[in-house]
Order: sequence, then C-alpha cells, then structure tokens
Amino acid sequence: MNNRINPGPGIMKIKPYVGGKSGVIGKKSIKLSSNESALGPSSHAKEAFLKSLDSLAIYPDGQQYALKEAISKNNNIDVNQIICGAGSDEILTLIGNAYLVPGDEVIYSEHAFILYKIISLANGAIPIAATEKNLKADVDSMLNLITPKTKIIFIANPNNPTGTYLSTGEIKRLHANIPENILLVIDGAYAEYVINSDYDSGIELVSNYSNVVITRTFSKVHALASLRIGWAYCPNHIIEVLNRIRGPFNVSIPAIMAGEAAMNDNEHVKNSVDHNTKWRDYLYNHYTELGIEVIPSVANFLLLNFKNVENINSNNLEKYLNDKNIYIRNVKDYGLPTHLRITIGSEKDNKTLLEEIHKYVEGNRL
Ligand SMILES: Cc1ncc(COP(=O)(O)O)c(C=O)c1O
Repeated sequence: MNNRINPGPGIMKIKPYVGGKSGVIGKKSIKLSSNESALGPSSHAKEAFLKSLDSLAIYPDGQQYALKEAISKNNNIDVNQIICGAGSDEILTLIGNAYLVPGDEVIYSEHAFILYKIISLANGAIPIAATEKNLKADVDSMLNLITPKTKIIFIANPNNPTGTYLSTGEIKRLHANIPENILLVIDGAYAEYVINSDYDSGIELVSNYSNVVITRTFSKVHALASLRIGWAYCPNHIIEVLNRIRGPFNVSIPAIMAGEAAMNDNEHVKNSVDHNTKWRDYLYNHYTELGIEVIPSVANFLLLNFKNVENINSNNLEKYLNDKNIYIRNVKDYGLPTHLRITIGSEKDNKTLLEEIHKYVEGNRL
C-alpha cells in the first residue's frame, strides 16, 4: 500500500538546496563558500545582541518597529512599505506563496540564484530560465519569454553566483516592457558592494510603480547571516498581502536589536565595502595572471572558470583545497561544472587561498 501523503504538485521536483561547505566545528578552517562578510559584524551590533539576552523570555515586537525605523531612515523610504523577515529567503518565499498558483510561469535568468526555481516549484508554478550572454542576465531574452501565464520575474542584481549585474537603465527597460500584472522582484542581497555609478538597487522603481519589490539582506555586508534578517521595500498593496501570511513573530529580539545597530553603523558598512573592493580587484588581477578566466564581479565573491586552465579539473582542485580545510563553492548545481565561486575574505584568508591555487595550478602544468 502506498502510505505516502502526497505533497503539492512540483514539490518532489525540487532538488533540496545545498549551502556552501564548512569544515568540522572546532577545527580551524577557511570558509569562503557562502559569501559571508570578510570583516564580521559591527561592534555596535554585537553589543546590541548581548543586551538582547535580557529579553530572551519574551516575544519580539511583531511589527519589528525599531528595525524598520532604522531601515527607513538609512534608505530614505516609507517605514510602512517595509517588511522584515527571517532572512531575505523568507521574504522571497512569502512572495511566491502569496502570488503563485499552479500553472503560473516564473521567469529568471539562466544562472540566477537557485531559490527562485525552488520557490516556483514549491507553489506548483513553472520555472522558466532565460538564456544569458557572457554569464549576465539578458533583458531581451527575459522579455521574450513572457506569456499571459507569467506571474513573477525574479532578478538578482547583482546575481549570485555570477557576480554580474544589470545597470539602472537595463532594469528600467526590463520593467518598462513588462505588463502591469507581472511582479518584478529585484533581489539586492549584494547591493551594498556595488560601487559602479550606473547601478542602483531599484528603490525608485518601487516608489513609482505598483508591480516592483526589492529584497535586501543583513547576511552579507552587515555580517549577520546567523541571525537571519532580511527586508523588502514594497508597494502598500503587497505589504498588506505579505503581512497576512508571515509568521507573527518572524524576526527575533536579538535579530531586531543587532540589525538596528548594524543598519545605523554606516562607518562599518563603508569599511566592509572598501575592504571588498580592494581585495576583489587584487584577486581578480592575480587569478587572471595565473591564466584563470575570472568573471568580472561587482559583489563580494569571484567566479573562476578553470575550463581552459591547462591540466586543471575544478573538482580535483576543490578536493585539494578541502583537504587543506579550505572551503569554496562548486557551482555544478547552477550548470557551471568548470567554475568555482570564492568569497572575498580577510587579507589572510585571501592570500592563503591564492597561494594554494597558485601552487596547485603551477604544480599541475605539463
Ligand atoms: C542572491 C541572493 N539572494 C538572497 C539570498 C538569501 O540571503 P538571506 O536569506 O541570508 O537574506 C542569498 C544568499 O546567499 C543570495 O545570494
């Protein structure tokens, strides 16, 4: 007898998400596999976290007002149009749960963050990947896939794992050419790291249109991945919908308090971005000199392609690094079997990894 209780349509098609590898707890390792921050959190955020220990027995403010106030002030946006969640992945999931019904179509870019496919399948929707040019999202190819069934377009800007981005002009063109009944979700998990003058995170689009949402996170530049805090800036009608389905206390008191302090510490954010820019450029140049193709990245990681590196197999290199307790990210699940993604880390970790890859590549040259 088949005694399984059937899940919703699409769910068994999901390949469970596999996060970046880390070493054995308690054993010294270098973890550059999950795009976490190189400098760690603001000291003010750590102090706020410690203060929150006195409040562990009570429920958090379900409206997360202090956190939303800090986000509103620092981004110059209406506090009533902000929603917070347990990571931006919760908010992306809530958007899918709220708007997708079986048979809807969801468009994203070929090498987009994998969660968009999971969210689509979880709701019985049909995930549709648009081809890219040079590992960069292609506006025309996304627009060409629109049908009367399209409900959501997800775009990570910048994208993980490629590190490439669409300019403000390209995002505006994408939006200008989609019907009003399609929701454009712009995922800006790495927005703070982008220093290019032709980029913005899409705040103006949300302010002016009813079908755009941007999501952001405290996991990257604010270095609070473990506390799980994300937020979104949305039109009012979408806030009203998402607030109906989110957990009433979905952000904890330690997260609210540390998040508020992190958001207000602009100096720490600036230091983290400066560190990232400096080391991203340094590593880009050094890996390129080694004959490795490096995809130009505006985020806090680099994608390296070993396809044309003489006698190097990225799987074997990953194993070599893991044996030395160094963890980077293979991106086979993204359809990139010859690439490896490395997070920009501390000076020491960056140099150690570079040295090991240098040794491995030189040692294997014929
Ligand atoms: C593009 C992108 N969006 C969203 C997330 C989810 O981040 P979090 O749930 O920690 O906010 C990630 C995490 O790596 C990401 O790379």
